[in-house]
Amino acid sequence: MEILKARELNKIYPGKIPYEALTNIDLTINKGEFVGIMGPSGSGKTTLLNLVSTIDSPTAGEVRIQGENPHRLSPDKLAYFRRRELGFVFQSFNLLNTLTVKENIVLPLTLDGMNLKEMNRRLGVMAEKLGITSILNKRTYEISGGQAQRTAIARALIHTPKLVLADEPTGNLDSKAARDVMELMAKLNEEEEATMMLVTHDPMAASYCNRVIFIKDGQLYNEIHCGDSRASFYQKIINVLSLLGGDGHDFSPIRV
Ligand SMILES: Nc1ncnc2c1ncn2[C@@H]1O[C@H](COP(=O)(O)OP(=O)(O)OP(=O)(O)O)[C@@H](O)[C@H]1O
Ligand SMILES: [Mg+2]
Repeated sequence: MEILKARELNKIYPGKIPYEALTNIDLTINKGEFVGIMGPSGSGKTTLLNLVSTIDSPTAGEVRIQGENPHRLSPDKLAYFRRRELGFVFQSFNLLNTLTVKENIVLPLTLDGMNLKEMNRRLGVMAEKLGITSILNKRTYEISGGQAQRTAIARALIHTPKLVLADEPTGNLDSKAARDVMELMAKLNEEEEATMMLVTHDPMAASYCNRVIFIKDGQLYNEIHCGDSRASFYQKIINVLSLLGGDGHDFSPIRV
């Protein structure tokens, strides 16, 4: 089943000198897929994610999420759609630091008026999976970066969104914490059949995906699929990145 279908997406940022950040992007993501988006800095990855997440609108082309074009919804319906159907994980976590870990995680459910019992049940399951049960009553300034990222993932997934969108979720983490977060995302992808789209420049993180799409200068450049082994997929990713050029110095081969 198709969760996301993007057709001939174009994005031109207006300005004195208009800039075409994306050109004719076609992209389909099926239910349960875990798709990575890679490409050099400035290639249009965040732009693509913003069009899919409806943070920004395309100049031309169409986004459909399970058959529905979110860009055509009224502002009220769009806010509801984003809250219900999408889950966001950002590099900067976006946690509210006046709230506890628990309060941050259940926020999307609170907004929907879910009853307390069901809310606590879901919280328990998610916290257990992510290994954050013992920190649920801490404030966000009392926890580590890796714990904050896991909290953000719990919050993004607790309402079982159709599509999880992550922009550099491991960007602020050391390699051990980054690996833990990716293992958790892969596990949630498998166990919950959560469909995920992950923007990353980290080949280690991307190697947890089922498929990686490469963008160069706003256009699709290549697409590769994970075979039997994550280690060989990692190597394939490195190979494409070296052909792609750009910020190749970021890619260290010693993290697998
Ligand atoms: N709001 C904006 N106005 C004008 N140009 C923009 C805007 N946002 C991004 N761009 C330009 O569009 C291009 C793509 O930007 P984008 O943020 O999508 O890149 P990216 O692939 O996410 O890069 P990075 O890996 O550095 O995060 C860049 O050349 C950028 O300068
Ligand atoms: Mg970006």
